[in-house]
Amino acid sequence: MNASTTERHCQPLTIFDTTLRDGEQTPGVSLSAPQKLEIAAALEALGVDVIEAGFPAASSGEADAVAAVAAKVSRSAVCALARCHEPDIVAASDALRPAARPRLHVFMATSPLHMRHKLRMTPRQVMQRARQGMRLALDLCRDVQFSAEDATRTEPAFLHDMVAMAAELGVSTINIPDTVGYATPVEYGQTIANARQAAASHPGVVISAHCHDDLGLAAANTLAAIHAGALQVECTINGLGERAGNAALEEVVMALRTRPELYAATTGIITQRLAATSALVAGLTGIAVPPNKAVVGANAFAHQSGIHQHGMLSNAGTYEVMRAEDVGASTQIVLGKHSGRHAFAAWLEARGTQLHEAGLERAFAAFKRLADSQARPTERQVLELAGAGSHPPAGWQLLAASHSGRGDQCQVEVRVARHAGRECQGCGRGALANAVADAVAQATGLRLRVAACHAAMESRGDGSVATAHVEFDCDGAALRGQAIAATECEAIAHAMVDVLPAARPTRMEVAP
Ligand code: KIV
Ligand code: ZN
Repeated sequence: MNASTTERHCQPLTIFDTTLRDGEQTPGVSLSAPQKLEIAAALEALGVDVIEAGFPAASSGEADAVAAVAAKVSRSAVCALARCHEPDIVAASDALRPAARPRLHVFMATSPLHMRHKLRMTPRQVMQRARQGMRLALDLCRDVQFSAEDATRTEPAFLHDMVAMAAELGVSTINIPDTVGYATPVEYGQTIANARQAAASHPGVVISAHCHDDLGLAAANTLAAIHAGALQVECTINGLGERAGNAALEEVVMALRTRPELYAATTGIITQRLAATSALVAGLTGIAVPPNKAVVGANAFAHQSGIHQHGMLSNAGTYEVMRAEDVGASTQIVLGKHSGRHAFAAWLEARGTQLHEAGLERAFAAFKRLADSQARPTERQVLELAGAGSHPPAGWQLLAASHSGRGDQCQVEVRVARHAGRECQGCGRGALANAVADAVAQATGLRLRVAACHAAMESRGDGSVATAHVEFDCDGAALRGQAIAATECEAIAHAMVDVLPAARPTRMEVAP
């Protein structure tokens, strides 16, 4: 089934992009002519060989949009789709008139199910209609592509005859669509090999793969087709398309680039443009890219677990099979509750903050508390924590802070410990900040008085956190602290306890 390596040696693969046709068939998507033009320009800059711009028989607006793309694009071939009906084919040919390199694409369903229930035609009639369609298309355009719709559910002997006839008539590309995403990789590779066999007496004819993702196999089936000798693959940006979509261009291209030892196929795709093209298509179609989408998802090069981050910091190859910059993205070390101290310190250093050992220790502990209550701490929050960590080492550690009541009637309990020392408890009553100060004072034996406190809950996309900034007097010394925690009570308590000195302060010990 495999094409021999010598046969495929240095064979360039034609990348046929159908974002503007099959991709536009994504439920809810309808692109205006200016939007199609913008995407077509991006596809041409990306280096795709053929841009399928639309289905001109669908509407006059669609015909105009295809004609506009045909007039604007010069390096890529521009293709228009038509059923094997004279009016469709004429509409497609008219829309392609301004194209520098036009391709007319005709299709006909060939599976028993489609012939019987959709076309209500016999196999003989289907063969005849396909022949007429291809002949007319060849009269109107030099470059004609034929697709046997639902090829993977077509009787093998009938598909063989259809492919042989198309090759004999002189079409340049014969497409074997897995229209409903039914095939599996080994099976699809065999279907492509059979098609190559059927067209073998016309060696210039290109066999093309077109896969849908109903079973999540579109990219795998496309690669199997390449392995079996397909010289054109049809894809869409972000895998857009009917139902579960088509094979994603970025996945197929990056698989080829990442595993050249397996696929002797080269493409002209400028992979560094993939991320920007994906973002443009997502923006114009309104179909967001899932964060975990291969190659172009926001998390495709993001690392959150401590073990992975540690590996990545010493060698990116440990957890990335391709370089982020090769697809126009960048690697991200994302701080979250699974992150380790190593990555935390590296993240801060990359932003110009270097903490001493004890400061790092405290900032990292505060960060872990924050990350437990908020899935993705913001950059500002983490930098604030680091700012707190740069204070001289505190003498006390807050173990717990809780409160009940509200307004002026709060009751607060705290548990603190001297670093590596005994635990002490305290409680206080009154307005929240004063109650916390009294509780901390009772637990530590220090005299505390709040001068100013600003505490508030902030809501984030993934939950809410409390922030606190406190200015207070500690045995005559003015101190200032800030913290982020799950509750306002905890944040105020941290803001105070985290900056308490180890020894009782005197006026001499603090800045004037
Ligand atoms: O999936 C399909 O069969 C198609 C054809 C029109 C090529 O999109
Ligand atoms: Zn399709």
